[in-house]
Amino acid sequence: MISLRNVFRIFDDGTTAVRAVSDVDLDISNGDVFGIIGYSGAGKSTLIRLLNGLERPTSGSVRVNGVEIGTATEAQLRRIRPRIGMIFQHFNLLWSRTVRGNIALPMVIAGVPKAEIAARTEELIRLVGLEGREEAWPSQLSGGQKQRVGIARALANNPEVLLCDEATSALDPDTTDQILDLLSDINRRLGLTIVLITHEMHVVRRICSHVAVMEQGHIVETGPVSQVFANPEQPVTQRFLRQLPATGNDGARKLSVIVPQGREADLLRLVHDLQLVLTPTPGRDADNGQARFDLTLDDAHPDPEPILARLQDSGLTLAEG
Ligand SMILES: Nc1ncnc2c1ncn2[C@@H]1O[C@H](COP(=O)(O)OP(=O)(O)O)[C@@H](O)[C@H]1O
Ligand SMILES: [Mg+2]
Repeated sequence: MISLRNVFRIFDDGTTAVRAVSDVDLDISNGDVFGIIGYSGAGKSTLIRLLNGLERPTSGSVRVNGVEIGTATEAQLRRIRPRIGMIFQHFNLLWSRTVRGNIALPMVIAGVPKAEIAARTEELIRLVGLEGREEAWPSQLSGGQKQRVGIARALANNPEVLLCDEATSALDPDTTDQILDLLSDINRRLGLTIVLITHEMHVVRRICSHVAVMEQGHIVETGPVSQVFANPEQPVTQRFLRQLPATGNDGARKLSVIVPQGREADLLRLVHDLQLVLTPTPGRDADNGQARFDLTLDDAHPDPEPILARLQDSGLTLAEG
């Protein structure tokens, strides 16, 4: 469990004070894939660096699994940090070490016995799908392969939390999806909590269970992805949602669902279970107490029939187009 209360991080050089993180309250449950989205300068990197003590709050409380990170001593932080892995936009690999050497490094630093390092390194190489590339140098790898090394290295000491700072922003769209699917798989298999920051709603849609929207240091909107997507309240959230149709959904199929009054929760549950995308519909039909929602079935759902069947089973009316 990650819990922030009244957190501020103010950068003050004596002439100007920047409130990079301003009065943030945030709760992230174990096992969540929690997305934090915002434009450049919103404070996302500062916020995520508060979670592993790379930044200290100016005021407020930052707790990760019961440990107060904000006031921990350097010695305490050294014990806590192996439990919080991190990956980066530009991978941060060591160019003088092979794939195997990069992945082993955190264990070497932590003083893990040699035999254990060797076994764990092979296990991690399999987990991230880098079999056959063990002896390659970072310069010989594609962007996606580099990030796989970054992920394996971040998982080396069995962390409870994985922090991702724009981890797919340097990758092409197909590679982005492969890395996101790998993260999603790791979240399910290892029960690892993932906190990821991004400026792309596509990333949130593909793997996040929860999302927080950041603007000028504040979290302006937060909730389960299905709820925020169905009912975005803030203009900045609505702007981010408008990114979605432009992200290569050529094969997308649009559906409208008519929801009788009081049944909205059923639709939201279905949307969440089936990982569908609800497009906000500003001019909703409100006649007869019914609401109309637009749904998008994209390439992630090659076979729409089971989804259509489940929607119909739930008594929600479909109108194609
Ligand atoms: N070390 C620092 N010193 C001064 N200002 C900083 C520092 N780090 C970040 N900032 C400022 O804080 C704000 C938020 O930055 P950042 O957290 O990097 O945002 P994001 O990751 O959303 O782009 C920006 O105005 C940035 O210039
Ligand atoms: Mg940043």
